[in-house]
Amino acid sequence: MAAALTLPPHAVAVDLGFGAVPWTSAEWLTSLRGRWPEVRLRAVDADPARVEAARQGVEVEGMRFEVGGFDLPPGGAHLIRAMNVLRQYRDPEVPGALAAMAAGLAPGGLLFEGTSDHPGDVLAAQCLRLDGGAVALEGLLLACSGARGCAPALFRDFLPRSLRRGRDPTGAAAALLSAWEPLWRQEAGEPHERILRSASALTGGMAWHLPAGFAVWWSPAP
Ligand SMILES: C[S@@+](CC[C@H](N)C(=O)[O-])C[C@H]1O[C@@H](n2cnc3c(N)ncnc32)[C@H](O)[C@@H]1O
Repeated sequence: MAAALTLPPHAVAVDLGFGAVPWTSAEWLTSLRGRWPEVRLRAVDADPARVEAARQGVEVEGMRFEVGGFDLPPGGAHLIRAMNVLRQYRDPEVPGALAAMAAGLAPGGLLFEGTSDHPGDVLAAQCLRLDGGAVALEGLLLACSGARGCAPALFRDFLPRSLRRGRDPTGAAAALLSAWEPLWRQEAGEPHERILRSASALTGGMAWHLPAGFAVWWSPAP
């Protein structure tokens, strides 16, 4: 999915709901700059105290901390990540929040919305884009460090709420995990070999309502 992302030279990324610690935004900017050296980052949070603490704590050229919400300036962001933000919201609030964030996307921009555990060892994020004014699901990113093992079922509790069993009319994500599980069980070897080999065995059948399919990323804990 990332391979499909083309950013202009002065792209703007937004870390929406950056949270209690500002250095995660700074780390994200550093990793983005590995590929897009001139990218700038707006780190936004609804909590003014967090924004003030972040401004005092971290200063990185090209990164700005701001008080704000889901309603970003229309069309201004090429990449938005909103990790562990919507889990605080009730189900009926989620579609409106996603639509508001997506309205901040520039043409071709992507919104990653998802959930991880606290250390970031397991993560699931949906990748969304704007298509003719509507929010469209592009794909699903599943990442695992192996620190707590790794199996398809591990991702179930981290799926975006709109993709969980019983809430997503297409059932695509739940079907993906169910189809993946037996393939993973058949694999032998190290945990990362089992998860990656079984995932790639799945991809052939994975056009299912996820136009860019899904990506599984093994990111070992340091
Ligand atoms: C659990 S923290 C997540 C922090 C970080 N993104 C992470 O993954 O570790 C959620 C943050 O989202 C912020 N937040 C909640 N609703 C928001 C909104 N509508 N707009 C901006 N920030 C929001 C909260 O103030 C909080 O700092």
